[in-house]
Amino acid sequence: MATWSAPGKVFLFGEHAVVYDKPGLAMAIKPRVLVSVRRHRHPAPAKSPYIAQCFRELGVTGSVYVSSQMPSSAGLGSSAAVTVATLSAANDEFRLGLEREEIAGIAHRVEQAVQKGRASPTDTYVSTMGGLVLIMDGARRRVPPVNLNLVVGNTQVSHSTSRMVELVAEERAARPAVIYPILDAIGALTLEGVRKLEDPKTLGKLMDTNHALLDAIGVGHPALTKLVLAARAAGAFGAKTTGAGGGGCMIALSPKTGKNRIAGALDGAGGRAFVTSLDTVGARKEHDV
Ligand code: MEV
Repeated sequence: MATWSAPGKVFLFGEHAVVYDKPGLAMAIKPRVLVSVRRHRHPAPAKSPYIAQCFRELGVTGSVYVSSQMPSSAGLGSSAAVTVATLSAANDEFRLGLEREEIAGIAHRVEQAVQKGRASPTDTYVSTMGGLVLIMDGARRRVPPVNLNLVVGNTQVSHSTSRMVELVAEERAARPAVIYPILDAIGALTLEGVRKLEDPKTLGKLMDTNHALLDAIGVGHPALTKLVLAARAAGAFGAKTTGAGGGGCMIALSPKTGKNRIAGALDGAGGRAFVTSLDTVGARKEHDV
């Protein structure tokens, strides 16, 4: 048996804008998803379509055990983490000799097949590689890690990433003179954010602006607004929607000592909060469970 884990992700800046080739900055976060794979000729059918597709892609069969503390369907890349951890564990168990880059590529294909075409290459790349990842000029590269204290607030309002991406496309087609410059501005915020990673006060302000621009392109939700305002009132440097919007999660950048206060404020405002930080490792071998 082989056990591997992989992290989730948040967008610090640039969600939706990256769909239009503008820069974005994503970050691998804890908690990790753990997957054990055991060679098995006639395993029970996998419950997750992602896991079933991983085995189809690799042309092997095995039984799987998954342990996850990450909320699913919340925009935190949990399906990508399950996919990456399954591929990594199967790669190990069957000694397939795949490199990390290859695993990231196969993981993206798995997500595309399961999600019928629309899948974020960022989710699978960040989960495989870990760290802070700048998406720019059609490529993804890691930027030097920094210690950011983040609090994630889950609105628990369900949303569909593909519907939100469609919605922005419709807005953009209907009002190009308004939406194009906003997407450009979001891209500019990403680049400014990368320059200010060591300056949390400024970084927080940039996150606030990014949040306003996400509202302006139509992916806001009252539950997200409520959590963002609660986080700022509880002392966050800044807060914004993360991921596709229309529900799902927000993130707050916290001073070193204020994380629990902010998490409490998010819970009090109807969200479900957890404190997190950068995961620099990506997919990793674990002791078997
Ligand atoms: C979703 O987490 C982020 C989006 O930018 C979509 C994507 O990057 O594929 C909305």
